Order: sequence, then C-alpha cells, then structure tokens
Amino acid sequence: MYAHITGWGKSLPERRLTNADLEEIVETADEWIVSRTGIRERRIVAAGDTTDSLGAEAARCALAQANLGPQDVELVIAASCTPEALFPGISNRIQERLGLTAAAALDINQACSGFIHGLAIAQGFIATGQYRTILIVGAEVLTRHVDWTDRATCVLFGDAAGAVVVEAAAEPGGPLAFDLGSDGTGGDLLMLPIDGKLDMNGREVYRFAVTAMTSSLVAAVDKAGLALADIDVLIPHQANIRIIQSAAQTLKLPLDRVFTNVEKYGNTSAASIPVALCEAIEEGRIAAGDTIAMVAFGAGLAWGATVLRWTHPAAVDSGDEREPGTR
Ligand code: UT7
Repeated sequence: MYAHITGWGKSLPERRLTNADLEEIVETADEWIVSRTGIRERRIVAAGDTTDSLGAEAARCALAQANLGPQDVELVIAASCTPEALFPGISNRIQERLGLTAAAALDINQACSGFIHGLAIAQGFIATGQYRTILIVGAEVLTRHVDWTDRATCVLFGDAAGAVVVEAAAEPGGPLAFDLGSDGTGGDLLMLPIDGKLDMNGREVYRFAVTAMTSSLVAAVDKAGLALADIDVLIPHQANIRIIQSAAQTLKLPLDRVFTNVEKYGNTSAASIPVALCEAIEEGRIAAGDTIAMVAFGAGLAWGATVLRWTHPAAVDSGDEREPGTR
C-alpha cells in the first residue's frame, strides 16, 4: 500500500510580532534580523490558545480538505517540542478536541524534524497494512519558551500548526523514500530544559544545519532512485533563509524550485514544513505528478528528508487566519 497525502491544513495565530516590535523588547535591528535570518515577522499565540488547540485547528482543516469525518481517522501522530504538559500527549488532546474516537494517538518529539519523522511512521503503518487513514500534526507554541531577554534566540521563533492526512491506496504515490538521522553528541547545542528557556549555540547549529540539509536530501533522493534535478519543489524546514540558500547553492538547486515563507512566520519547528506545504499548494506551486522533497534539521541533533510523488489533483483551501476553535 502507498501513503497518499489527501488533506492538508494550517493554523496561524492572528497576532504578529514584527522586527520593529522586537526593537522595543531587545537590543536588535530590523536590518540585522532580515540580513542574518530573512525573518520579518512571526506569529504569537493568543492567551487562551495552546499547542493542541492550534494543532486541532490545523487538523480540522486537513480532514475537511480530505473530505473525511472524525470516525475515519485510525491514528493521530502529533509532533511537537512545546506541549503544555509532559502528559497527556497533544495527540490525545487533539483526538479529544476533534472527537476522533476510533483513533489511537501517538506523540513524537524530534523538534524541527518531528513532522518528517511522523510522516515516516505513518508511511510505515500504511505500508504494513496496520492503518489506512492517519492524521499527522506538527504544532508548536515556541514563544512561551523563549528567553525574551536573549536577542540571539527570541527573534527567531514563532507559533503555528500544520497537518496532513495520509490515506492508503494501491496506486503508486506518496513518499518514495526517507532519510532519518540523529547525532546525540550535539544535543546540548539546542535545548529546552523542562523548567528553563530555549538555549542555542547559533553558530554551531547553523554549521550542522547546512550540512544536514544537503546530506539528508541527497540520501533521500538516492534512496528514491532519483536525481536532484528531478525535484520539482523543495520544501525545507524554515529556520533561516541563509541556511536554505546555502544548501540550495551547494546542491545546485535553482531557488525558484525552493519554497520559503520564513519571512512571515520565523522558525515554527515541527509546524514549519506542513505550514509551508499548505502555502505552496495555495500558491499553485504543486501539481499532480510533481516530485516533492522535504528536509528538516534541528534539536537532537536530528534530521530527516523525504522525496514523494504528489498525486492529489488540485489545490484547494487549506485553512485561514481565523482564531483557532471558532469554526
Ligand atoms: O531549527 C533549527 C534551529 N536553529 C537554527 O537553524 C539556527 C541556526 N543558526 C542561525 O540561524 C544563526 O547562527 C543565527 C541567526 C542564530 C545568528 O546569526 P550569526 O550570523 O551566526 O550571528 P552570530 O551568532 O555569529 O552573532 C553575530 C553578532 C554577535 O555580536 P558580536 O559578538 O559579533 O559583537 C551577536 O551578539 O550578532 C549579534 N547578535 C545580534 N545583533 C542584533 C545576535 N543576535 C542579534 C540580534 N540583533 N537579534
């Protein structure tokens, strides 16, 4: 069985924090942030919202897009490094919020690489016949965990959620190959302690990110039996425009095949790739038959890449800017 992506959705808090706003909070400058990261603004979750309320909203959009009801979902996989509690999992909360009473629930935390890991798990379950319909959510509320006095990190992160539905089908399509990896020796370079704030060695993580992005993408493309030139659209983790451009240059991938939206949302960790996928679809960048690559890197240190064949005929609505939970 093949795991086709049949639904997609996103949820973005309405409140924007611009670089000009940040100039009032820490000693920084719009020019520095834009030239070093490409980020112009990020979203901040509303007081009453949570990681799982954002995640549930994105999931609701993805299910509507796939034309599925709550009873159709057999497994919810939720990727996040910023849940409200150690337990219950946000997958359990999303299951409850959407009334997915027939579904099992599974949380994973591979930080920025979490969504790709979730997609790989889903593909495995579908290939072995365990499940036919799986919801994968990436949701983060990073702005509650950054140190607002640390200019080196607080300018980088934002809140968001994205989701996809994958469904089993006999016709070929969906992920062709995955490359997943971890180097735990770099674990201390990017950490969020349980009672602390996000802490990062930016320079070291930057170096790792460019290398991981290029090598993981090459490994996934190789495993799929394809060449880099076969990629129609690359959807990379949106951490820093310089990381993306540097990797694209090394790989000789033309930038018009690389989707970016980091300028609008900053780094939203596990939400970054599914949100970018939604926007690439909305902008008409993805068509049936296209070869899509996705690649992520981040805390762990961990990374993941996939190459997939897009089979969905058309791009439609994938969510909007409403406050979560108001549908
Ligand atoms: O999802 C994966 C997780 N994270 C990442 O992918 C992030 C990877 N790292 C990066 O993107 C970059 O390292 C940063 C954007 C975090 C930093 O850019 P950089 O070019 O590596 O800057 P730097 O850390 O080498 O700092 C250069 C200077 C320093 O001043 P001095 O020591 O040269 O006087 C910093 O104090 O820039 C200063 N600086 C700032 N200045 C204004 C650091 N943050 C800021 C700021 N505004 N917000």
